[in-house]
Amino acid sequence: MSRRPGASTLAIHGPPHRLPDGAPAVTPIYQSSTFVHPVGSTEEVRYTRYGNNPNQVEVARRYAALEGAERAIFLASGMAATALAHLAVLAPGDHLLASRWIYGGTRTLFDQEFGRHGISVSYIDPDQPREWRRQIRPETRAVFVEAITNPLMRVVDVPGIAKVTRDRGLALLVDNTFASPVLFRPLEHGADVVITSATKYLSGHSDVIAGAVAGPAPVIEEVTRLLRNWGPSIDPHAAWLTERGMKTLALRMDRATANARAVAEWAVGRPEFSGVHWPGLEGHPDHQLAASILDGFGAMVGLSLAGGTKAAERLCARVRMVVHAPSLAGVESLISEPRLTSHRGLSAAEREAMGFPDGFVRLSCGCEDAEDLIADLEGALG
Ligand SMILES: Cc1ncc(COP(=O)(O)O)c(C=O)c1O
Repeated sequence: MSRRPGASTLAIHGPPHRLPDGAPAVTPIYQSSTFVHPVGSTEEVRYTRYGNNPNQVEVARRYAALEGAERAIFLASGMAATALAHLAVLAPGDHLLASRWIYGGTRTLFDQEFGRHGISVSYIDPDQPREWRRQIRPETRAVFVEAITNPLMRVVDVPGIAKVTRDRGLALLVDNTFASPVLFRPLEHGADVVITSATKYLSGHSDVIAGAVAGPAPVIEEVTRLLRNWGPSIDPHAAWLTERGMKTLALRMDRATANARAVAEWAVGRPEFSGVHWPGLEGHPDHQLAASILDGFGAMVGLSLAGGTKAAERLCARVRMVVHAPSLAGVESLISEPRLTSHRGLSAAEREAMGFPDGFVRLSCGCEDAEDLIADLEGALG
């Protein structure tokens, strides 16, 4: 094949190759911590904590192909991926410039842990292009953003920020969890490193905790070195489930994104909502940017309830099919209040600085039938 294979082909086959006679069509699970090592050999030791179990290697090969990255490595969670990706490019004394619009757990990691390693972090609103240049310090080494932000579904101008990081010789790390490589491939837009919580769209069935980092070989080698020392390797079964989930990633993204459009268009007309946050809506502040850099507007919808916190709780309590649980990107639709879940570590002032009100719920549209999803929401409002 001379053209670059599409996302489904890459996820199903990896970079296409002919399997040898007798080979299993599907990667078997190597549920083994260790592997026979040749006596007297100085070859690399195969050991599951090292990230070189065949399931870990295979899922990483496919994910690297999806992101268009030289290499990738999987870890035990999205948080492990975020932590080690940053530790791979930052050293004591360095400064990290981060977007303020990020997952609460990432914010807590930066605030509670990075200082202990001599890394300072400051935050800016990512929609202020001039601020990026102004806030860079002599000791700044890296910039971190989420491409589609948690929880407000703002879309960040990765190509614009990449121009600044390239000029200044900084590493640009992008958390691509909400978009997935089907909708956005940060490396094609000038980012250096991609981070993802594979717990979400890559695995896609709310049954795995996993994370991954993709990028140039030297960065992935450094993440792998840290992985071997700190130990957050992915279990082979979780790696296998993630590989299986990835095979339907593009199909799921299509369906879930179509459901998000249906829900967003339905919600816009309802008096119960004072705001509908989905980048596919023309009134969304980043609609033009999203249309120009994304291959789809995503399956996450934010809903601001006009009745505030009480109305949000009522909605969450009354849905019958949609699952009230603090995660996203499963085949089942999930609803949560970020104030009490993904962003509970933040003070009210910090949440306000991020721009989300208390009556805000985050709906992760799954792959059910759109009519049933809307009927469930409608019933809960009624
Ligand atoms: C954008 C984003 N990044 C990273 C993470 C952390 O992922 P995990 O729960 O797999 O550690 C999350 C979790 O919700 C997330 O939403």
